[in-house]
Amino acid sequence: MPGIPMRNGGPKARIAVIPGDGIGAEVTPQAVKVLKAVCAPTQRPLEFVEFDWGADKYLREGVTLPPGAVEMLRDEYDAILFGALGDPRVPSNQHAADILLGLRFKLDLYVNARPVELLHDRLTPLRDRTEKDIRLIVFRENTEGLYVGVGGVFKQDTPDEIAVQEDVNSRKGVERIVRYAFEYARRKGLKRLCMSDKSNAMPFAHGLWQRVFKEVRREYTDIDSRHLFIDTLAMEMVRDPSQFDVVVTCNLFGDILSDLGAQLAGGLGLAPSGNIHPGQTSLFEPVHGSAPHIAGQGIANPLGSVLTSAMMLEFLGWRQEAETLRRAVRAGLRENCVTPDLGGKQSTAAVGDWLAERVGRADLAAQLK
Ligand code: NAD
Ligand code: IPM
Ligand code: MN
Repeated sequence: MPGIPMRNGGPKARIAVIPGDGIGAEVTPQAVKVLKAVCAPTQRPLEFVEFDWGADKYLREGVTLPPGAVEMLRDEYDAILFGALGDPRVPSNQHAADILLGLRFKLDLYVNARPVELLHDRLTPLRDRTEKDIRLIVFRENTEGLYVGVGGVFKQDTPDEIAVQEDVNSRKGVERIVRYAFEYARRKGLKRLCMSDKSNAMPFAHGLWQRVFKEVRREYTDIDSRHLFIDTLAMEMVRDPSQFDVVVTCNLFGDILSDLGAQLAGGLGLAPSGNIHPGQTSLFEPVHGSAPHIAGQGIANPLGSVLTSAMMLEFLGWRQEAETLRRAVRAGLRENCVTPDLGGKQSTAAVGDWLAERVGRADLAAQLK
């Protein structure tokens, strides 16, 4: 999805690659291969440095996010290409909390941009819906809410046990994501914005969202903005997704809504995302997780990671290469060069090879529609 403010716009970029666990480690190398190929004809040097952070390292060495990692990424890299974290051998999910949520919080990546775009009519489960109906973007607040880890357990493992998980919302945090969503709509010429919360049941936390939204929207009278409660929004996205351009919501609701949106557009295997702080090192990852039950079989869909890479190129200011990647993905979908989750017969690596060949030769890339 074009229009994300760029990090450097310069002639070269340094990318930290964190493939992670399960299918994260299978799809990410395909995306790197396709990225190298798309940059070859235009001679944009991308430098990739891989980090083995994930469940294996955690189980082996007890290390999640190594000391100094945040500063290193912030100071030495333009962007991070991330796979997924999650492993049945780590039921606490501690390493994912430290690494993924740790990077989102410590790099202050307050925008989680999750486009929902139907790239081929046959991929939506909705009857009679076509590409023109499903084209929206969810902006998920990414540094606050129920994700901050404030809480505790009292009288654990007794009949009187109590668990508390606090929902933390700051005026600054709410205002910056709401404002980003409005600015994005304006920049992209999108006319409709919907803010969603649950202020009818959560008057303190989401009353703040209401107040901030009402203040900020006054500055954007050129945009048709409205509010829906999250339960209604989920229903409306299924009933008629064509009514939405930009959706902005809190951390947890954005998480849930982005999987719903992913399915409207063909499933988790296709959904990209960017964890962004404009102008600073940002992290790009497919929406899906590590899918342990299909890991190691070579059937994971790499397109989510490839489309994520296109978002990353956009962020780096490399529009032409980003567009070439998206066109190649569309061509692959048209020709059914896809993995089993999309009804195809190709392996993860075969899809990556096919795309790399299309984008890596200037003559073939120029033919992409
Ligand atoms: P999941 O996204 O891993 O899988 C959900 C379903 O979608 C599964 O049926 C899976 O096979 C399918 N799927 C997902 N991506 C696919 C792809 N690229 N190709 C084909 N099929 C695909 O979600 P889950 O099963 O709820 O979680 C598994 C683990 O991943 C958990 O540990 C969870 O915490 C973690 N997780 C991590 C991230 C992340 O790192 N960003 C995101 C979501 C879940
Ligand atoms: C996502 C994931 C993560 C989240 C998990 C793994 C903590 O589901 O990126 O969508 O909830 O943010
Ligand atoms: Mn999720």
